[in-house]
Amino acid sequence: MPKVFVTRKVPQKGLDMLLNQEGLEVEIWPEPLPPSRETLAQKARGIDALYCLLTEKIDDALLDAAGPRLKVVSQMAVGVDNIDIAACTRRGIPVGNTPGALTEATADLTLALMLAAARQLLPAAAGVRAGKWGTWDPLGYLGPELFGSTVGIVGLGRIGLAVARRLQGFNARLLYNNPSPGPYAKEVDAQFVDLDTLLAESDFISLHCPLTPETRYLINADSLRKMKSSAILINTARGDVVDQAALAEALQQGVIAAAGLDVTSPEPILLDDPLLTLPNALVLPHIGSASITARQKMATMAAENLLAGLGKKPLPHCVNPEVYN
Ligand code: DGY
Repeated sequence: MPKVFVTRKVPQKGLDMLLNQEGLEVEIWPEPLPPSRETLAQKARGIDALYCLLTEKIDDALLDAAGPRLKVVSQMAVGVDNIDIAACTRRGIPVGNTPGALTEATADLTLALMLAAARQLLPAAAGVRAGKWGTWDPLGYLGPELFGSTVGIVGLGRIGLAVARRLQGFNARLLYNNPSPGPYAKEVDAQFVDLDTLLAESDFISLHCPLTPETRYLINADSLRKMKSSAILINTARGDVVDQAALAEALQQGVIAAAGLDVTSPEPILLDDPLLTLPNALVLPHIGSASITARQKMATMAAENLLAGLGKKPLPHCVNPEVYN
């Protein structure tokens, strides 16, 4: 009987798609935290399909531990930087992901971070709870308006576009930077500029690029210095797109005004990370896709990919289609 290992409890709809399959042995990791590397290797031994999350590192060692029966790796996420895709391809293993499922949820959260960081929502709310709301204060918690601002989108793909669409309602001037001009710009009237121009002219800079060797530390001490001192940096992509130590220093020294981060490096962020002590850094625990709709869709898409792979059919959403050549 084919065996599936699911690395965490995911929305039930997705699990049911697997559990309701006849002749499939499904093991679901029951703990709230991911299995350790050793446990994952042990659980993966001899399986036919792996249903995993971005918290698992899927590399040669893990694939070797799983062994030759492994037919598909299905990730419940769109980003797959935790998976060595080339290693999977070498073994003829298709890798599935969930593009589109979390686009709107992540775009919503991006706008939430922009507004919250700009208008100091967290310090303001904390002030109320701490009994520091003395009176209506003409100078209290001032911040810039998103409305009418210039927003630089780094990575105008699906999520970047969804953010841009929302920002049109804020009458924002939109700049974007991609490796090359993209197809979505026209719809949202976004102007393609080089990264330095985007950094220099934007009031808000929002990161939506995948983590690749080229984008690792794309935002570093040097690029932070190119931003306006009033700039607000938003990251809902991957933590390692930003040099976090350089960002903390820039926020401390007023090189830029604020940051809203849904992703960090590592995750969870270390409790002694200086970012957690800064009033102008808003850090969330990677909840961009945490809408009920998005998480259900992600769970079911990942199950669809997995079942297709088990049945030796092309995955509906395959990251390495070259595996079929
Ligand atoms: C993804 O799917 O890559 C997201 O980061 C999950 O929230």
